Amino acid sequence: METAFRRVEQQTVTRTWWKEAIAYQIYPRSFNDSNGDGIGDLRGIIEKLDYLEDLGIDVIWICPMYKSPNDDNGYDISDYQGIMEEFGTMEDFDALLQAVHARGMKLLLDLVVNHTSDEHPWFVESRQSIDSPKRDWYIWRDGQGGEPPNNWASIFGGSAWELDPETNQYYLHVFSKKQPDLNWENGDVRTAVYDMVNWWLDKGIDGFRVDAISHIKKKPTDTMLPSPDGKKYVTAFSMYSNIDGIHEYLQEMKRKTFANYDIMTVGETNGIEPEAADLWMGADNGAMNMAFHFDHVDIMRQSRLAPLDVVELKRIFDKWQQGLLETGWNALYIENHDMVRAVSLVGDENHYWRESATALGMMYFFMHGTPFIYQGQEIGMKNVPLPSIHDYDDVATKNEYFERIANGMSEIDSMQQVWGTSRDNVRTPIQWDASPHAGFSTVTPWMPVHEEYETLNVEAQAKDAHSILSFYKTMIRLRRAEETFTYGSYRDVLPDHRQAFVYERAFEDKRFLIVTNLTANPATVTLPDVVTGTLVLTNELDPEPIDTETFLLKPFEARLYRL
Ligand code: NOJ
Repeated sequence: METAFRRVEQQTVTRTWWKEAIAYQIYPRSFNDSNGDGIGDLRGIIEKLDYLEDLGIDVIWICPMYKSPNDDNGYDISDYQGIMEEFGTMEDFDALLQAVHARGMKLLLDLVVNHTSDEHPWFVESRQSIDSPKRDWYIWRDGQGGEPPNNWASIFGGSAWELDPETNQYYLHVFSKKQPDLNWENGDVRTAVYDMVNWWLDKGIDGFRVDAISHIKKKPTDTMLPSPDGKKYVTAFSMYSNIDGIHEYLQEMKRKTFANYDIMTVGETNGIEPEAADLWMGADNGAMNMAFHFDHVDIMRQSRLAPLDVVELKRIFDKWQQGLLETGWNALYIENHDMVRAVSLVGDENHYWRESATALGMMYFFMHGTPFIYQGQEIGMKNVPLPSIHDYDDVATKNEYFERIANGMSEIDSMQQVWGTSRDNVRTPIQWDASPHAGFSTVTPWMPVHEEYETLNVEAQAKDAHSILSFYKTMIRLRRAEETFTYGSYRDVLPDHRQAFVYERAFEDKRFLIVTNLTANPATVTLPDVVTGTLVLTNELDPEPIDTETFLLKPFEARLYRL
């Protein structure tokens, strides 16, 4: 009998290691401190490679570990070919690379080339005089009557321009004022960037996550933006994101660097659409292998103030899943170092912590694409609200807090936003065990550990077959064992259901059904057909059989069936 669940025709797929990989993101400062200075480091990562191997990880992406004054925790690089002192030395890096490879794993670095630190020698030279040979390596403009050249806002708040008193000109910074943007129009800049990229690739690293890459091309800087609400500086993504002509640079970078190595590249591409997939991540023409888009993150973030819009979330995923099935590849994620904890934002950390962390995990993990896990997500780490703005480290958090106050918001309201949105929520040390400082360090760490660390930690969950960690391990094992999850088609079975996310993956003669309730209320679900098959994984400790077309899912219940 032909069931209402669709059978798929023969699919042709191109198998590649990075499509089959499970990736894990490390924020080195908070991962593991090996030398007792309260800051995570490269040797600390080496110490935990057994843990990652046991988890089933094959690709590790480490956030920037280069020399940096740490205005934006390493995303402000002052030496692309040097290691940040707190993190170790180049010998430590080489040892890490070797240890990763010895386990058959791969290592991706963060490639941050939209901007450098203002302490990078290129910028130091550029700012010296208007005639400096490197002046044009950055974007310098005259002000207008004591004001910046235009009213573009920085992504981190305030003007996107900073006056340099020495030469009385302004430089552009899409992020913090200590992150001046490189001028990609200048061919020498591009050559210097490509040389550096090739230097790392020749060292044997396995690829890059490419930071803020959709911002490298800008609109002409004499473009003023309308300000409907009278704000002095206006959100300016339309002036410095995905601007026409960007693909010339991306294709050139690919040709001169990435294309010559067997590597994995993941772009951070705020604002792109699947229609542009061929040039961004198409199998032949794509500048990169895959990209992190932000569409689902926007919906997740809206759930801070209103119930999660499950229908819209599914629509967005469907757009990307269908959109990239033929052309391109998805990078799947629900957390990273710029977000807050998914279980705190979209889940219910107080009443359904284990259930919601696992349901959210299952929701994205079996989609078409390469899944990424952000450190601590696999144990359901929660947001860490701190008492005062002075307890925070993140430059964006602080800028935005003070900007809101300057615009008339009360301190408590501004703090509420910090608690709900600060990137520091995901940057606290990993809770390894119940010992002091959660086993992260022998001394007080650079950021406080979550107060629940004595019970919420890796060691406790490793011993518990029903823990979030055990659930993640099983999901990883299933994904690795079953290529339907890698290469199969995707279909949203119930696009209009307001609580449940039900999708089908199919490949050759195999079909799987992923069923999750993304709300803290029971959900009545009616499927087009009775589910006949094997229950492969569930977060229910005592699952009831589903033997009718209509059935009830408990809050945040998650089930995976082989049909
Ligand atoms: C995106 C990175 O993910 C974020 O952490 C950083 O602050 C900005 N790019 C600037 O590099």
